[in-house]
Amino acid sequence: MDFVKQMSLLFFISCFVVNLACAERSTYIVHMDKSFMPTPFASHEEWYSNTIDSLKFTQPNSKQQSSPSLIYTYNNVLHGFSALLSQPELEALKDSPGFISAYSDKVAKLDTTHSYKFLSLNQETGLWPASNYGENVIVGVIDTGVWPESRSFRDDGMPDIPSRWKGGCDGGYDFNSSLCNKKLIGAKYFNKGVLAATKTRRHEMYSARDAAGHGTHTSSTVGGNYVKGASYFGYAMGTARGVAPRARLAMYRVIFEEGRYASDVLAGMDQAVDDGVDIISISMGFDDVPLYEDPIAIASFGAMEKGVLVSSSAGNYYTTLGLLHNGIPWVLTVAAGSMDRWFAGTLTLGNGLTITGWSMFPGKASVRNSPLIFNKTLSACNSTELLSQFTSGTIICNSIDSFNREIISQSRVDAAIFITDSFTFDGSTFRYPGVIISSEEGAKVIRYALNGANPTATIEFQQTLLGKSRAPIVAEYTSRGPSPSYPGVLKPDVMAPGTLVLAAWIPNDPVALIGTNIRLSNDFTLESGTSMACPHASGIAALLKGAHPEWSPAAIRSAMVTTANPLDNMGDPIKDIGFDYAIATPVSMGAGQVDPNSALDPGLIYDASVEDYIQLLCSMNYTEKQIATIARSKYKCSTNSSDLNYPSFIALYKNGTKSVRTKRFERIVTNVGDGEAVYKAQVTSPKGSLVNVYPETLVFGQKYDKQSYSLSIKYKADHNMTVTFGSITWVEENGKHTVRSPIVVAPMIPVW
Ligand SMILES: *[C@@H]1O[C@H](CO)[C@@H](O)[C@H](O)[C@H]1NC(C)=O
Ligand SMILES: *[C@@H]1O[C@H](CO)[C@@H](O)[C@H](O)[C@H]1NC(C)=O
Ligand SMILES: *[C@@H]1O[C@H](CO)[C@@H](O)[C@H](O)[C@H]1NC(C)=O
Ligand SMILES: *[C@@H]1O[C@H](CO)[C@@H](O)[C@H](O)[C@H]1NC(C)=O
Ligand SMILES: *[C@@H]1O[C@H](CO)[C@@H](O)[C@H](O)[C@H]1NC(C)=O
Ligand SMILES: *[C@@H]1O[C@H](CO)[C@@H](O)[C@H](O)[C@H]1NC(C)=O
Ligand SMILES: *[C@@H]1O[C@H](CO)[C@@H](O)[C@H](O)[C@H]1NC(C)=O
Repeated sequence: MDFVKQMSLLFFISCFVVNLACAERSTYIVHMDKSFMPTPFASHEEWYSNTIDSLKFTQPNSKQQSSPSLIYTYNNVLHGFSALLSQPELEALKDSPGFISAYSDKVAKLDTTHSYKFLSLNQETGLWPASNYGENVIVGVIDTGVWPESRSFRDDGMPDIPSRWKGGCDGGYDFNSSLCNKKLIGAKYFNKGVLAATKTRRHEMYSARDAAGHGTHTSSTVGGNYVKGASYFGYAMGTARGVAPRARLAMYRVIFEEGRYASDVLAGMDQAVDDGVDIISISMGFDDVPLYEDPIAIASFGAMEKGVLVSSSAGNYYTTLGLLHNGIPWVLTVAAGSMDRWFAGTLTLGNGLTITGWSMFPGKASVRNSPLIFNKTLSACNSTELLSQFTSGTIICNSIDSFNREIISQSRVDAAIFITDSFTFDGSTFRYPGVIISSEEGAKVIRYALNGANPTATIEFQQTLLGKSRAPIVAEYTSRGPSPSYPGVLKPDVMAPGTLVLAAWIPNDPVALIGTNIRLSNDFTLESGTSMACPHASGIAALLKGAHPEWSPAAIRSAMVTTANPLDNMGDPIKDIGFDYAIATPVSMGAGQVDPNSALDPGLIYDASVEDYIQLLCSMNYTEKQIATIARSKYKCSTNSSDLNYPSFIALYKNGTKSVRTKRFERIVTNVGDGEAVYKAQVTSPKGSLVNVYPETLVFGQKYDKQSYSLSIKYKADHNMTVTFGSITWVEENGKHTVRSPIVVAPMIPVW
């Protein structure tokens, strides 16, 4: 009886829910073929809104009072609109002339691993060019908005805005349009998608002002002006600056506390291209979508056609292969790594031994001659009861489990020394006085604590050491390829600094915490994520665009890939902290750490045209409409080629395939060096594979000469999902250029 009753109740509820869903409208992004626009219409807006109006009569008997409504029209990077539609209205729309495709609005993911709230400020500029490059380049940042009063956006020393700039500064809530200047030359917000999806209406939604900090951080990383004495309590004085400190910035706010919608992202990118940006930097992505439903893939295709490079973040999905986003063949996809900067707490024992540990304790404090305590029974430091017996002293914790937990504060000790070999050095919340040291160093400290007479410890915090640690190391959090949206092109492309990056922040959001209730705000902070790596690459791309205005987006990317460094600052292959410091593979870091100065003069370029990308789309077994969704016009594929002229090589295998296979590639390289040049190939085959190159010598008569070569990889599958890799390097004879491309054999991952 009860069972039946429950069943009927459930049935009632689900019917109700279904009915509700039927009647309710939600946002769809609709792609249209403009060539179908009937002549009476003066503009695409008029055509689209007329199309929407005609849907009102879809359900003549319905009692609905509201009507379908237009949210945005798009006219640059895609043709179409977004609209609030019910399911029947959507079905009716599909019969309208010019309809290509429609999909529901999606939610984007920001690529910051954590909000690292820190006050220790130091600007490491070793990886960044020190010159005033980028003055005539405009970078559009698609993000959470901007804090225009930040010192990073002052326009001291900036000449007049390039006359080709068509953008502007939207006034909005708490955002006077006079806040834009010669540095921050544009600020607009796109909230119609989020407004359509939520009932919330806060003043803050009607503004380009950053309420989250993310957009202020990413945009100041790309092109923030020089900020002298960026410091906290006078500690770690330094001059902060963006990668392209003279570039112009335009913010397109598409992210709100209430949500992040594809329709808004598309509107922001569409506007950026129309306004005349040269580079788009976008530190977010859409997961689990095929290229023809990925707003970033769609908008960046249109941007690429207009010569605008889109630089994007790979995502923060940690080490599982194949979870990267933005693995789009026509964008730059950026992975994250560490810098050679060490935030230290120096531990000095009573016997004189000094150990440089890791600490990011934000307090202006030090621990002096504090009695050192080691008790094996409670060395895990995880028992409040056992720890409460101590009211002073520095306790040794043989584990990091209680790190940052209140347990340490409840013990009332002066400080804690944490011993661990598994800290990833990207986390930065450090609420209590302490230092993290390795087990090797820990053994010495324990020995002294147990055997010394009245053992003591002194700890100095807030120390920043540069150049002493191995770097870069691939970050644990950075998402790995192959790209689920198209595995046939190696992604990510390059790695850039993403861990504990210092840049501007919003002043009304605390950036550090001491104990449980002391919150500290600052106008700069340290953040980690591929969100922070992407704007470094965007800034470098902006510098390259400034130096070589004639280069296509593919040429800029090629220069960055073929000059990237696979070695770290100790001359060893870059390691991957996510795989226990094993040698990093290209599915983690692409070709390696981006090297801006080398990229300025790459020697050879692997270029690609719009037609090449269309040939690639035609090879993908997409329907005509899916291709038109990306390429905008109806395109009949008569020929196709999956062999894009890309500056890297990837061969994929299915787990368990026994047979030996050969994958062949054709490449065309353009000489961008000065005058004639001869290059010879140096090949390292991936372990277990054989790579052949023909010819092995390329002779160029003059600048812009093109030569082609073919490369084949003979490889076999294994059961281990192993990624193996090698490289081909074209080395200039009697010259300085080396042009390196990674060669990868990787397991196939699911494809949408
Ligand atoms: C915007 O700024 C200008 C110049 O500082 C000022 O004259 C104007 O009153 C401001 N507008 C608003 C709405 O605050
Ligand atoms: C360690 O702590 C335990 C539990 O509080 C206590 O019984 C023991 O005496 C301590 N050992 C030393 C050497 O202090
Ligand atoms: C504390 O850590 C020890 C050693 O790792 C473990 O055996 C014990 O169960 C932990 N206790 C608590 C309360 O978590
Ligand atoms: C690509 O072209 C080849 C050769 O013309 C053809 O066999 C193949 O079916 C085409 N693939 C697609 C997806 O159209
Ligand atoms: C190509 O698309 C067709 C029709 O959509 C499908 O039947 C076929 O399995 C696809 N082939 C591949 C290799 O994905
Ligand atoms: C797979 O891994 C196992 C264990 O690491 C190793 O012995 C074996 O050779 C690997 N197989 C291949 C095909 O690499
Ligand atoms: C690969 O295939 C083998 C044999 O079918 C299976 O045992 C193994 O778990 C697979 N490996 C992965 C990583 O899926």
